[in-house]
Parts: sequence; C-alpha cells; structure tokens
Amino acid sequence: MSLQNVNVLLGVTGGIAAYKAPDLVRKLTGLGANVRVVLSPSSAAFVTPLSLQAVSGNIVHQHLLDPEAEAGMGHIELARWADVLLIAPATAHCIAKLAHGMADDLLTTLVLATPAPVFIAPAMNQQMWAAQATQANLKTINERGVTCFGPASGEQACGDIGYGRMLETVEIAQLLDEALASRSLLVTETQDAAETQDSESGLLAGKHIVITAGPTREAIDPVRYISNHSSGKMGYSLAIQALALGAQVTLVSGPVDIPAPIGCTVIQVQSAVDMHTAVMHAVQHSCDIFIACAAVADYRVADIANQKIKKDNDEMTLTLVKNPDILADVAALSNPPFTLGFAAETHDVERYARGKLTRKKLNMIAANDVSQPGIGFNQSDNALTVFTADTQIVLPQQDKLALAKQLLTIMAHNVSKH
Ligand code: PMT
Repeated sequence: MSLQNVNVLLGVTGGIAAYKAPDLVRKLTGLGANVRVVLSPSSAAFVTPLSLQAVSGNIVHQHLLDPEAEAGMGHIELARWADVLLIAPATAHCIAKLAHGMADDLLTTLVLATPAPVFIAPAMNQQMWAAQATQANLKTINERGVTCFGPASGEQACGDIGYGRMLETVEIAQLLDEALASRSLLVTETQDAAETQDSESGLLAGKHIVITAGPTREAIDPVRYISNHSSGKMGYSLAIQALALGAQVTLVSGPVDIPAPIGCTVIQVQSAVDMHTAVMHAVQHSCDIFIACAAVADYRVADIANQKIKKDNDEMTLTLVKNPDILADVAALSNPPFTLGFAAETHDVERYARGKLTRKKLNMIAANDVSQPGIGFNQSDNALTVFTADTQIVLPQQDKLALAKQLLTIMAHNVSKH
C-alpha cells in the first residue's frame, strides 16, 4: 500500500465539508498513514480540534505564532515531517491564498515551507467553483505541481446543484494512495529503471491495448493534404510504457517521423477513415483497453481530386464532410473495451473534456491544454488533467514518456475497478 507509513499532514480549511475531516483521518490511517492535522483559523467553527486529536492520535496544530508549539513540533519541523500535504476541504479562499503564495496562517506557511507534494480536495458552492478567479487560481497552482482531487458534482449544502462537493473521504484516501503509487514509480524510474521493472511489469499483464497516435492526413489532391501538428510522441510513449507494464499493444499510427516501438503491432494509416477501419478491426480482437491519443481530422475533403489542382482561380472552395468519430464508435460497441480518450483544447478545457467524457460515453479522458507553451503538439513535454465521471487528477508538466507511465498507472487502477 502506498500510504503505509507515509506522514500525511492534513490541512483542514473552513467549509461545511470540514465536518468530514475526522472520517478522512480514519480513512488515511486505515491505509497505514501517520496523520497530523493543521486547522485553518475558520475551520475550527466546523470541526473540533479535540475530535481530530482523538482520531489522529496527535496534537492538532492551529496557530503560526504558538510559543509552545515552536518549542516542540514548530512549523518548520512540521513542514519537514510531512511526506505529503493534503488540504481537504480546500476552500476557494484557501486556493486563492496558495495561488498568491500567502503565508498568513500556519497552513499556508506550511505549504510554502514544505518540500512535500501538495494535494487539495476542493469544496465550495458551484458558482464559486465556476468563478473565473477560482479557475485561474487553480490553473496557477496546478502548474506549480499541486494535484487537485475533485470536486464532485451533486446537491450541495446550500441547495445548489453542480460541481463543488468535496469527494467522499474514501475516494480522497484512495486517490492519494494511487497518486503516491504513480509518483513513487516515477521517482524510482529516474533513480533506477532496472530495479523498478520487476515491481511494475505486471500492472497491465494480459491486457490487449489498442492505441491511436499521430495525426491523420486528409487528401485534397494527389500532392496536398489537410493535417495537424501531432508528432505521435505522446501516443508512442503510451505504447512504450504499456509494453513495459506487460500489455500486448496494437498501435494504429498516422504518419509520423519516429520509429515504431519494438514489441508492438503497428498499423500505419493515413486518413481518419483508414484509422477508423483499422481500429474497428483491431478492437474486435479481444481488446481490453482503447486509448485514443491520435489527433484525428474532424473533417475530410468531400471530393478528392484525381489530378493536381491547378491554380487557375484566385479563390478556391473546398467542401468538407465530417469524419467518423473513432473513439465514440468504439465506446458505442455492444461490449466496449475500457476507453481512455484525449481532449486537446485551447480554452474551457475542463468543460469540453468533461463534455467529451459524457457525450462519447468514455471511462476516462485526459485533457490537454494545448494553448500552453512547451506542451502538447510536437513537444517533448506534456501536462494532463485526467477525468473520470467523479474524479480529477492533475499530472503536471513532464517528459511525455514519464507522463505516459503516470497516466497508464492511474488508468490501470480504474480498469481494475471497471
Ligand atoms: O502527437 P504529439 O505531438 O505528441 O501531441 C500529443 C497530442 C496533443 C496530439 C495528444 O496529447 C492529444 O491531445 N490527442 C488528442 C487530440 C485530439 O484530436 O483531440 P480532440 O479533442 O479533437 O478529440 C477528442 C478525442 O476523440 C481524442 O481522443 C481523439 O483521438 C478522438 N477522435 C477525434 C475525432 C475523430 N474523428 N475520432 C476520434 O477518435
């Protein structure tokens, strides 16, 4: 278990969901964690230090300028003690303070003072969650490596319905456990790749995974086409890591300039229609998981010219028709594999990604904010936010190969629950 003997510093901020903090402590200690609790000034209105002390077995920390605490486990010692800092619930106000690097109470000071990874489980009114300021603050802290769990959608304490409910305590504990598992895989990889191979190699053993990668090319005439900037790096990284995790991999690839990973079946295609045919054929051969990473052209030219089009006119009009949606068609099969889609977006990333997750009836979607410099199309690095119907995990910017391993680890845990 990834939380076994891990020192979790649990920050509780002042929202109604704070009453769930004692239960969260129980869930974390149930997974083997050592928990110390830090209360924000307003959270004590919702939950008592005494109950948190009783369940955690440790003194609850509340004040930055507490001479008694500074003589014992002062804020710097606490920051060093933590292997992980989890803030649940994290209010909109807390997220805003983190985004601005404020340190006006013990909890926010600890966030700055600790080298430990920081996770938050937001909880707030749906309108506050949707507010531009909150979303901008979240984006800022996500980019700095803070991982966000949730929130979930549903009826709220105030009577509103929408996103903003804190995830259930059992889900938060589980997600933290999984996040630590994927982090430790990543850390170990860079420290000693050979050593990790044994412990990880079984994660996708026995699974047949079909992955699409790269762009498609939609012909205009024999010498011209419509395409996009996908290099195939993300999809090929997924194929490499899936093989390393023990899967049998079929890679359906558009035209790219990188070599095929050794050990997988590669089907080279050009157009979206070709890719659709190849995928529908491949998934019908006992496919367990389908990952759609390709940047498939949404439209193709209605009438492809047989001969090179001459530039006789000053203007030219092309009629485009919609391509089949490969991912939606796989998810709509009577017995579909586990489906992981990607969503490449330049704005409203979460809304569009969640829309695709629901509309295409997917199990998971990895949202890719391709408006950000240095990640996405034709870059070595990428950053993703992974959504299921009720979870959200941020995977910060890193090399695509490392990111692919994190994504597959999270996916494997979801496949096992599927
Ligand atoms: O190849 P790289 O240079 O490494 O760049 C990686 C990437 C940016 C291409 C990749 O991370 C990514 O985001 N891939 C998805 C690109 C995309 O086309 O997204 P979309 O939001 O337009 O499509 C949504 C999903 O439907 C995707 O999973 C896509 O593969 C799938 N789709 C889309 C259209 C279609 N006709 N069929 C599909 O299967």
